[in-house]
Amino acid sequence: MDLRIKSYQEYQEKYQKSTEDPEGFWDDIAKQFVWQKPYDKVCEWEFETPDVKWFLNGQLNITENCLDRHLERRGNKLALIWEPNDPKEAFVRYTYRELHDKVCAFANGLKNKGIKKGDRVVIYMPMIPELTIAVLACARIGAVHSVVFAGFSANAMADRINDAQAKMVITADGLNRGTKQVPLKRVVNEALRACESVETVVVYNCINWSPEMIEGRDFWWNDVISGMSTVCPAEPMKSEDMLFILYTSGSTGKPKGVVHTCGGYMVYAAYSFQNVFQYTESDVYWCTADIGWITGHTYIVYGPMLSGATTMMFEGVPTYPDAGRFWQVCDKHGVNLFYTAPTAIRALMGHGDDHVLSYSLDSLKVLGTVGEPINEEAWNWYRVHVGKERCPIVDTWWQTETGGIMISGLGDLSPQKAAHAGYPLPGIQPVLLDQDGKEINENGVEGYLCIKHPWPSILRTTYGDHERCKNTYFSHYEGYYFTGDGAKRDENGMYRIIGRVDDVINVSGHRFGTAEIEDAINHNKMVVESAVVGYPHDVKGQGIYAYIVCENLPKDVELAKGEIIETVVERIGKIAKPEKIQFVSGLPKTRSGKIMRRILRKVAEGEPDKLGDTSTLLDPEVVEEIVEGAL
Ligand code: WT7
Repeated sequence: MDLRIKSYQEYQEKYQKSTEDPEGFWDDIAKQFVWQKPYDKVCEWEFETPDVKWFLNGQLNITENCLDRHLERRGNKLALIWEPNDPKEAFVRYTYRELHDKVCAFANGLKNKGIKKGDRVVIYMPMIPELTIAVLACARIGAVHSVVFAGFSANAMADRINDAQAKMVITADGLNRGTKQVPLKRVVNEALRACESVETVVVYNCINWSPEMIEGRDFWWNDVISGMSTVCPAEPMKSEDMLFILYTSGSTGKPKGVVHTCGGYMVYAAYSFQNVFQYTESDVYWCTADIGWITGHTYIVYGPMLSGATTMMFEGVPTYPDAGRFWQVCDKHGVNLFYTAPTAIRALMGHGDDHVLSYSLDSLKVLGTVGEPINEEAWNWYRVHVGKERCPIVDTWWQTETGGIMISGLGDLSPQKAAHAGYPLPGIQPVLLDQDGKEINENGVEGYLCIKHPWPSILRTTYGDHERCKNTYFSHYEGYYFTGDGAKRDENGMYRIIGRVDDVINVSGHRFGTAEIEDAINHNKMVVESAVVGYPHDVKGQGIYAYIVCENLPKDVELAKGEIIETVVERIGKIAKPEKIQFVSGLPKTRSGKIMRRILRKVAEGEPDKLGDTSTLLDPEVVEEIVEGAL
């Protein structure tokens, strides 16, 4: 299944075809997959309800496309290379045949534990091969996986389990991360005190820690697969049956479950993977993301495996044992295609060039970035020191909701420009809208980034709350999918993503709603009220700045800050820690009681002279106090 466009001219032709005849365009691609029953209609949609369907009445199983279809020609080809946290430990490699057998055995184990098509299974695991196996095993039997990033707290996990009404949790005793170990099962035990839907927990022994196991509920992975057959028929799934739920933050306090379905997601994952990375058969591909995020779903597991590629998983962190770890792993496994995040590049840049200069990096062909805008300095460092001015950089813009890469270069085919994601993939029709929701057609402009026509992996709903899906993405501008991002289009039509225009902060490529963090902070007993904004951060892109009102200004400010951070870590996880906390006697509000975030943002950004009009404030004095106490 070679879906790759091979020249820039071909890209332009395909792009044009995809806008003139979207159904014909996607039909040519989709028919190359294995369908248990062919679809009879390519697409049916309206953005009002919204109601989007792709490959109607078709039947498939994505794992048949990821595994079984490769067995004949690629049975002995490596599907997965796993590199452990500790470079002295042995790596693991599975061929497509081996992975197929492991997925089927575990899938049979899941069935044996009562999991059926449509059941939701929460996966809370380290970056080990069993995570990939668990994801594919769910898909094999039609269970809906919801992977929760292993850095989330017990509370955050419990919210997600309850929202999804998950029947099972798959986890491990703990995980390795640099010099640390984290006892995952302890977090699961705590979460499950608040979750009634979970009947069974499967625990993989990863760090040889003896966690508390509850009789009748908790089972070791090895016991679950013991005696299981490596034959497990792939459950027939309708194109629009749910494949997975992935929770992501929005502008309200409660994360939402983005729903992706089987057929469309499959087609777009493979198509975008092969084209953006210009993947060829012998390539070793490495995406450094965690499978707990959409990047890992689409570009560690599904996209590469649908393409029969060799995909790598890394258990560790970029700076352990030292800041040369990524580059050492690239040389060790001969990585050709490398995909990481700007925040990682900036962090490694900060450790000096020696680490990267001690490795050859000869095997690299294409470099990718994702998660946030990449600044010019980091882009150049990546191009010169990692890519040795030889490798194209694909700056890939997309979202959890889009399922796959939307705007990006295609390997070395497309023109490149620092800090610009570039042009849309075939099938993707981005537009910039002005304040009034009118399309801006010229170039050299800026506006709200929306998408005009559905693509196969667009989200279908937010789990259990379709109204929320409508309100968040389809109501701002009628007839468009609204991304929440602002963007520029340069004179040549290349897109440059500026960042969120809603109350969402992007910290190291992780998305948080300001309301979500405020909710967490407000759980602390001493807090009366809080407001959270983002501010520019050298490494993380954005940092979290919290303004907090307590009943009495805390006597020991450092102690109080520590307690607030503790509360956030408990409610969400370490990744959401506020960097700066300022205790204030009040927040700037309009007469109607609305917090004026614009003011708080300007102060956090270090531009208190640009507050604009403050005359409509209820209490202008608090602004002076806030400016004086700014961190
Ligand atoms: C938001 C989506 C898609 C996987 C990672 C994050 C920002 C993402 C880029 C990029 C500029 C980017 C946007 C987007 N973003 N990639 N290449 N350039 N901004 O997924 O958590 O769903 O976040 O990340 O603001 O809306 P996510």
